[in-house]
Order: sequence, then C-alpha cells, then structure tokens
Amino acid sequence: MIIVNFKAYRQALGHKAEKMAKKCREASKETGERVIACPQPQDIPRVASTGTETIAQHVSYKGTGSNTGRISATGIKNAGASGTLVNHSERRLSPENVRKTVQKCEDIGLMTIVCAKDAEEVKKFNSYNPDFISIEPPELIGGQKPVSKSKPDLIQQAVENTDGSTETLTGAGIKTREDVQKAIELGCSGILVASGVIKSEKPKQKIKELCDGL
Ligand code: G3P
Repeated sequence: MIIVNFKAYRQALGHKAEKMAKKCREASKETGERVIACPQPQDIPRVASTGTETIAQHVSYKGTGSNTGRISATGIKNAGASGTLVNHSERRLSPENVRKTVQKCEDIGLMTIVCAKDAEEVKKFNSYNPDFISIEPPELIGGQKPVSKSKPDLIQQAVENTDGSTETLTGAGIKTREDVQKAIELGCSGILVASGVIKSEKPKQKIKELCDGL
C-alpha cells in the first residue's frame, strides 16, 4: 500500500488535486498495487470522484452539531473518504484525542492510520486498535534521508511493538524503489510519501517506481 499525502502542496490543491489523484489511480491500475490519495479536506469530493481511494489528513472526534470549524468525521465520510490519518506529526493530537478519534472513526466505519513519532507511541497507540500505525520520525519528514535506511532499528522496534495485531507503515524521506523495499524487508506493509511524489517532475512514474518496491 502506498499513501500519497498531498499535504498543502500547491502542486496538489484544487483542480491539481484531481489531476494528482488521477495519476495515483492510473499508477494503481498499471501496477496492481493499492495507492491511496490523501488530499486537503476541501478537495476530498473532487479526488474521490476520480475513483481513487481517498482518505483525509485529519478529522475531529467531535460529533456533528455545534462544532464550528472542526473537520467532521461524518462529513469527511459523506464527502467520499474511506479513512483518515490521525495524529500526523504536522497535526499532532494528545494521546486521549488520538484514542477518541480512533473510536469515533471505528463507530462510523472510517479506516484509521495513526502516526507515531517513536516506538513508545506505537505501543500506546496500538492499544487503541487502529487499522494501521505509521512510524514517522518528524526530523526526517520532507528531507533526503529515507526513514527505512536511516532508522531501520526504529522500524523494527515499531513492528515489534504492534505485537503483530496492527499492520505497520512508515514514511519520511522515501524517494526510491529501494527505500520502499527496505521498509518492506523490515516488516512494513506499505509506506506514506509526500514530497518524493508531489515535487517530482513525473509523479505517476514516481508512484509506479515506489509500487515496484512493494
Ligand atoms: O505523511 C507522510 C509524510 O509526512 C512524509 O513526507 O515529504 O518526507 O515524504 P515526505
């Protein structure tokens, strides 16, 4: 599985989000691998309408009703998302908030990918029963050093700390097929990537290259 996080990159906002999603879908079709688009909330309907599997970058555990400015999990689902990231390092939550968000998503049928910055957090968040946990050291995000090659021990520890009950993903600095291969060798079932794809001159080719490492 490859999750392409669009973040708030200009190259993947508005109508460009739709174009990027189509590249994800084509790459998925051509490789047979699961490629998921993770756009900004306002772009979820247009991205989901391309037929690309779509998840949100964040949702609130608070329900529908008087919650001005919050991203309603129910609204995100209705807009076409099948899941959401939780606690991305650029949108950190308290552990209690992570727990409540995972619970809320489970209640309404949204898949959760909880991000953890270290192996201790993996252990804690695993007890909340998310669908996936992604180990992402914040200092490597957006950089040139792939987490799978720079921190193999951390990934192995994260995989161990899920006790085999949750699938582990990883992300940060992933740019090449070899970076993905290394993550899989270490026990991950997929990766999250942002800059390596979004800033690439040929995003579809790049996604296909990464899929080849799965
Ligand atoms: O969500 C994944 C992301 O934080 C990794 O970003 O730019 O290092 O691929 P990047």
